[in-house]
Amino acid sequence: MAAYYFGVYHWRRRFRSVASATGMMCLAALFRRRWSLGSTALAAALAIGATARGIRALSRVLSPPPWTIERYKYNALAARLPLGESECVLDVGCGTGRSLVGLAPHLPSSATVLGLDVFDDRVILGNAPGLARRNAAIAGLDAMPIEGDGTCLPIASGSVDTVAACRVLHDLPAASIDPALRELHRVCGTDGVIGVLELPLTPEGVDADPESYWRERVLDAGFETERLDRVDRRGRDDQYVLLIARPT
Ligand SMILES: C[S@@+](CC[C@H](N)C(=O)[O-])C[C@H]1O[C@@H](n2cnc3c(N)ncnc32)[C@H](O)[C@@H]1O
Repeated sequence: MAAYYFGVYHWRRRFRSVASATGMMCLAALFRRRWSLGSTALAAALAIGATARGIRALSRVLSPPPWTIERYKYNALAARLPLGESECVLDVGCGTGRSLVGLAPHLPSSATVLGLDVFDDRVILGNAPGLARRNAAIAGLDAMPIEGDGTCLPIASGSVDTVAACRVLHDLPAASIDPALRELHRVCGTDGVIGVLELPLTPEGVDADPESYWRERVLDAGFETERLDRVDRRGRDDQYVLLIARPT
């Protein structure tokens, strides 16, 4: 099984829970060795707490392990996009390459694959073009990372057949959503198609139903919706919004 490294970001929460379980275990061991009788009960309570935390930490580390990806959401997007016929595919907001890896099995080897991101290491530790390229390569994809802003794409008009925007738009400030979608419209020209996979979220400060919000934004940028679906999020009660749209 291929092992990926998507940056420190994805390990941070897991490190925290492993560290707190280890800390409790050390404390329990210290109480047991240093003090007797009254402290034995405390040591036992600490040991029970540490075991429970340990089990939770282990399940966090492994669900899913941070060196793998959950493919189902990218498979759902890929199944709705004409990736097999695409000559040039843009993954906007590719980050450390998770979505590139997810789309890789669906892309023809002849396609030019661009992964664009701001690659701001201060927001996601480890976010860098080299990491995106390396993870894509492990997945068998020769992707070209491009450093740039989604609201001002350094890409020629009409040069892309298919654009994927996976879990990126909600990260942008509300005022940048329309300019970003207009940029996607510009680069994919009249025959292109875009696939938006979004968390059930709206940008900060926007109080609206995510499905209606993303649909409206896409329409306002000059697209017509071809499909609008919900995809269950594994281990959660909510769903991704999945939108396929073509320029009008
Ligand atoms: C949650 S990550 C999603 C990464 C990947 N597409 C995935 O599905 O896992 C969001 C990414 O959007 C990028 N991003 C945020 N604002 C951006 C902008 N204005 N232009 C391009 N990328 C941006 C971030 O750097 C980050 O890598």
